[in-house]
Amino acid sequence: MSSLFDDIEKVLITEEEIQARIAEIGQELNDIYTDEDLPILVCILKGAFMFLADLTRHLTFRHELEFMEISSYGDDTKTSGVVRILLDLEVSIEDRTVLIVEDIVDSGNTIHYLQRHFAARNPAEVKVITLLDKPSRREVEVTPDFIGFEVPDEFVMGYGLDYAQQYRNVPYVGVLKPEVYQEDTEKD
Ligand code: PRP
Repeated sequence: MSSLFDDIEKVLITEEEIQARIAEIGQELNDIYTDEDLPILVCILKGAFMFLADLTRHLTFRHELEFMEISSYGDDTKTSGVVRILLDLEVSIEDRTVLIVEDIVDSGNTIHYLQRHFAARNPAEVKVITLLDKPSRREVEVTPDFIGFEVPDEFVMGYGLDYAQQYRNVPYVGVLKPEVYQEDTEKD
């Protein structure tokens, strides 16, 4: 029987590498933030759900978890540059420390948009934590504060990142076989 794992051409970052790096980022955050800071971690859905779930379990300081859903891609492999808020925060971030948790920073459009969106709400500070960074694709200047891994300009999926809303459950970061996209392109 065929499996979604048959669609994967190669593993870029293994499950063990991801988990080890998340533990390191957790430690870095534990060295910086205290209970008094009471940061709000803002998970950018959907892609960051798995990273947030693993990261929060390493944190020893008190913090709150909030969720926003942002869309910029549709079901394509390329960014459209259009950013839309599908689910906004319900809480005030005034005078609060906000830690944006992302799965990937690609063109930078999403983070650039969010930084402006939050800045208008007078937070104490806003930092960006991303599991993956793809600086070769930047369209706007954005520098994440905490980066798990830099990735090459390939269409990466797994560990929260989708292709056509699938493969988010894959526990590692990988690259799909080209025929998986080509089949879809032919259908379009
Ligand atoms: C992805 C990813 C980031 C954004 C990064 O989200 O989760 O939020 O794109 O790309 P950018 O730097 O070019 O803006 P996507 O819109 O695919 O939604 P999803 O997380 O629901 O899959």
